[in-house]
Amino acid sequence: MPAIKIAPSLLAADFSRIKDEIQKVEAGGADMLHLDVMDGHFVPNLTIGPVVVEWVRKVTKLPLDCHLMIMEPEKYVGAFADAGADGVTFHAEAVAMDYARKWKALSGSGVAAAGGYAMTLVCKQLYDLKRVDAAVGKLRSKGKRVGVAVNPDTDAESVLELLPKVDMILAMTVWPGFGGQKFIESVVPKVRRLREKSASVDIEVDGGLDPTTVKAAAAAGANVIVAGTATFRSDDIPGVIRSLRENAEKARSS
Ligand code: DX5
Ligand code: ZN
Repeated sequence: MPAIKIAPSLLAADFSRIKDEIQKVEAGGADMLHLDVMDGHFVPNLTIGPVVVEWVRKVTKLPLDCHLMIMEPEKYVGAFADAGADGVTFHAEAVAMDYARKWKALSGSGVAAAGGYAMTLVCKQLYDLKRVDAAVGKLRSKGKRVGVAVNPDTDAESVLELLPKVDMILAMTVWPGFGGQKFIESVVPKVRRLREKSASVDIEVDGGLDPTTVKAAAAAGANVIVAGTATFRSDDIPGVIRSLRENAEKARSS
């Protein structure tokens, strides 16, 4: 199984001191840096674009793991690759046929204050495979790693056909759009199913991960652990990164 990697999510950092924040997690033992890109359409929030990725690239040696929560990712993946991303992940729901998706209200999702919507799937004949291939092809031509993300209620079966095309599947463990939400335990069986289907693919989990919730995710086969609030908001970043790694490693071997 691929090694455990800890990926602090910049979303929880103090953006007025972004260089110091990044260097703190790098010195604290992070394996990669997770960058959340939101467009206000796929999810009800806006964050950063390629110009920020380009400047982040200059202040760290950590691999940059860009998570695109945007519509029409095939139009933008090249810009993130050129800005210095090492891997780019786009959502399966964002390249689905229009008839296969709808907006899902997020109220009750754990972000009481946020409300809003995220794209979700309503049937399994989902992808416009041409769009998947366009995004994958652009990234491969630039030598980048490719990931496909799935929202909490998109099942494993829907993305099994994409496994041979990608390096990583990201199983969202919260509804995308905001940091600081509660880990959705019901995603764990999906992680287990994906790991049964591939021993080699990276399986990333994102949302609500901390030294406790990481145990269930890693025991099911997740190996790339995104953590925003738990890392950047801690007074002991090296300690939290160490606990995330140790607890994940213990959980997968027990
Ligand atoms: C949510 C983002 C996450 C977020 C995780 O849409 O994809 O990467 O930053 O934040 P925490 O670790 O605070 O749940
Ligand atoms: Zn993310």
